[in-house]
Amino acid sequence: MRKLIYILITLLIVLTACQPMMHRHHGVSPRTHGHHSEIIGENEAPRENNTPRMHRNHYERMHGSYRSLNDSTGENEIALPPLLEADQIDGKDIYYTIEAQEGETEFFDGIHTKTRGYNGSFLGPVIRVQKDETAHVTLKNNLTEDTTVHWHGLIIEGNADGGPHDVIPKGDEKEITFDVKQDQATLWFHPHPEGHTARQVYEGLAGLLYIEDERATNFEYGVNDFPLVLQDRTFTENGELDYRYAYHPNGVTGTTSLVNGTMNPQLTVPQGKVRLRLLNGANLREYSLTLDDNQTFKQIATDGGLLDEPVSKQKIHLTPSERAEIIVDFSNYEEGDTVNLMNDENTVLLPLVISDKKIDVKKTENFKRDPLYTITDEEMNQDVSKEINLTGMGPHVTINGKKFDPDRIDLTQELGVTEIWEVYNEPNMMGTVHPFHIHGTQFKIISVNGEEPPEELQGYKDTVHLEPGDRVQLAVKFVTPGVYMYHCHILEHEDNGMMGQILVE
Ligand code: C2O
Ligand code: CU
Ligand code: CU
Repeated sequence: MRKLIYILITLLIVLTACQPMMHRHHGVSPRTHGHHSEIIGENEAPRENNTPRMHRNHYERMHGSYRSLNDSTGENEIALPPLLEADQIDGKDIYYTIEAQEGETEFFDGIHTKTRGYNGSFLGPVIRVQKDETAHVTLKNNLTEDTTVHWHGLIIEGNADGGPHDVIPKGDEKEITFDVKQDQATLWFHPHPEGHTARQVYEGLAGLLYIEDERATNFEYGVNDFPLVLQDRTFTENGELDYRYAYHPNGVTGTTSLVNGTMNPQLTVPQGKVRLRLLNGANLREYSLTLDDNQTFKQIATDGGLLDEPVSKQKIHLTPSERAEIIVDFSNYEEGDTVNLMNDENTVLLPLVISDKKIDVKKTENFKRDPLYTITDEEMNQDVSKEINLTGMGPHVTINGKKFDPDRIDLTQELGVTEIWEVYNEPNMMGTVHPFHIHGTQFKIISVNGEEPPEELQGYKDTVHLEPGDRVQLAVKFVTPGVYMYHCHILEHEDNGMMGQILVE
């Protein structure tokens, strides 16, 4: 009898939870509230731009801050971030300049929304560096306030990493230098000023950093190799991006999806294999990506670069700041066919429209890590030496019970020595997810809740996502010295003090 009641209750919960999804429909046309609603017989009012809706995250569900995304109508061809031209190349030395600046972006016809960007009005360019090069980057701050430029995923000395201590005052500039030691990877850069990271990213400050090497050169930028920066924004009635208007202490979401800063985007792809470099550049939103023809694609890379072997997948889950690179095969499609990149809740994020261009890319076998990614027996059997407890939600988030203090060093670790960090997301009644990120290193995930991590997590990572109650063990090694941040990458959690610092020497 008990069991029956239990089953009934579960069924009821599942049905209730699924209901909003039944209103969703495929296709790229704007959502209608016509006969679909009638069939279901529910009198849900048309959702206005800022109407919150339920989501799997319990806290969000109860507090209603997790706004559902609108479908892309596909009316705009997606913007491609420009490839930044080097100022100078001198043997193995390459010089770049990036400038954080104020700008205006026309998201809506005739409305000039105030935004910010690097070398442009919204987002930034792609900076490319080769393994073994030395990069020199001049960072200019032409904003009306102070900022920093952080290199997310890059192995770089603490004093060039762009954390909250590396303030570039408004109107000032700074030069940094780093040796490129990593293999090919899709990294990114964004501001990191104490307490203002979320707002500055929200206003448009984020760019991509590609590390390149001699492998996998069959793909060409903008032809069959595209970055997709996934973000969401809430606009005011006047079409402004007002962070305070959108603010929620547990993380800001928006109803409008932007991909590479384009509203209602579509991407034209050739008939052939296409490499998509996905970045979750959102403040809070998680993405669960699928293709609406349910095709299987190959995941070739994660945060820190290539996996040992491409992994077949039908869904990619990305929490804020995580990256995944996938190869989608459009060889068997015809001109004009459309495959939609979908998010959970059945949202159309990006229609992929197949063109008449045929590109034959046979060689994907070089999408392999070499030398292979391995977790050594030593790492496997090493004792945990650092414990990280992630607790709370909204304004009450902490790490090991503490909030960020720029004058306090929380942990120390010896340069070049591997330690096992155990990170635990202490469950609360609301069930809050935390993506945990460490600066200046790429770590290995040893275990997730005592089990071997899934295939796609068997590669170098700089961010690991923890569901409530999750416990992960990481093998962490720093090969460059300095002070580094570790924090939750829900940017509002970070700004609310869910961050600590480690001194490496
Ligand atoms: Cu994207 Cu502190 O990092
Ligand atoms: Cu980072
Ligand atoms: Cu968090």
